[in-house]
Amino acid sequence: MGKKKIVVAYSGGLDTSVMVKWLNDKYDAEIITATGNLGQRAELEGLEEKAIKTGAVKAVVKDMRHEFLTEYVWQALKAGALYEGVYPMACAIGRPLLAKFLVDIAIQEGADAVSHGCTGKGNDQVRFEVGVQTLAPELEIIAPLRDWEFKSREEEIDYAKKYNIPVKVTKKSPYSIDENIWGIAIECGVLEDPTAAPPEDAYQITTSPKNASEEGQVVTISFEKGIPVALNGIALAPIDLVEQLNKIGGANGIGRMDLIENRVVGIKSREVYEAPAAVILHKAHNELEKLIMDKETFRFKQDVSNKVANLIYDGLWFTPLFKALMAFVDSTQENLTGDIKLEFYKGNIKVLSRSSQFSLYSQQLATYTADDTFDHKSSTGFMKIYGLPYKTMTQVKNSLEKKEVA
Ligand code: ARG
Repeated sequence: MGKKKIVVAYSGGLDTSVMVKWLNDKYDAEIITATGNLGQRAELEGLEEKAIKTGAVKAVVKDMRHEFLTEYVWQALKAGALYEGVYPMACAIGRPLLAKFLVDIAIQEGADAVSHGCTGKGNDQVRFEVGVQTLAPELEIIAPLRDWEFKSREEEIDYAKKYNIPVKVTKKSPYSIDENIWGIAIECGVLEDPTAAPPEDAYQITTSPKNASEEGQVVTISFEKGIPVALNGIALAPIDLVEQLNKIGGANGIGRMDLIENRVVGIKSREVYEAPAAVILHKAHNELEKLIMDKETFRFKQDVSNKVANLIYDGLWFTPLFKALMAFVDSTQENLTGDIKLEFYKGNIKVLSRSSQFSLYSQQLATYTADDTFDHKSSTGFMKIYGLPYKTMTQVKNSLEKKEVA
């Protein structure tokens, strides 16, 4: 029997670098690192070399940004999935893709196990492990951060020094940051105190609304079947479209969130997020649905949005319910084609205009002018029938009261 093979989700940071060496020693295993580029700004250059120097036998780095947006993010956008009504879930949407990436490499390489650098109290362990178990139940999953001996960052640094593991020991930011093209999550440091407002230095990609330009900016977003395809009339590839909206939105102070959130493991955590493009696109997409979707579908979809958000947050992407709900969502997006014009101004988004060939808005029906075509008289009978149960109810109550008095 050959050596054990482990595929490690690798970022090149301290934790995952130490993991490579630690797993190598503890399991006498061959380590293959896997790094998915989902649009994090972290340095990917030289990462393969670094992984090999750290003790990996092979390093895989893959640009997954397009796949991330088209196969994962667009699903969540079409579903209108915002966790607890607000969080666009950049981290939560990225994990199933990374789990699939780990599994694909493990199968390709004939590996026995996969390993990730998530802690025991976070959501990301859930998303990785439920994903991996669903896609490849035969794979062992190792989570060193849950059971290794290191108790602090300093101990990990000492270990890295001892074994010549190349880690950039820069002055550590007080925050823990997880990032991809759909958004950034910022935790730790002073943010752990929910009575303290986030200091300005916690924000990584947005300008403070206070300092944003006085002019603001107007942008028209075009959707086709629920997917954004153009900005200001210019067709753009998904990566370009999201990057541009992050830039424009960020410059106008759009996309900041400061939340208390319920984690899968039951604790409440304080989370600061920045996701300009996600906030803008959810707003525009929802606005288009209001214009195009019939009343009952729109109302029902609000419940579905919430359910889909919970499934994604809870790591249940590769499940039958998610698939079934997304089939519903997709069928609601058939006519979701049109333009939304927005104005960004100091952290706010204002809708300036909405238009679509599929719009169900009829000005002739809505108008209060002489052009009105709505049949007011037909409402007379409708009111009688619609109010009937409650009218009856009060009549019965009144007659009972009369009897009591008599
Ligand atoms: N609370 C967020 C979520 O569950 C952010 C997680 C951030 N992850 C991290 N490794 N810092 O999606």
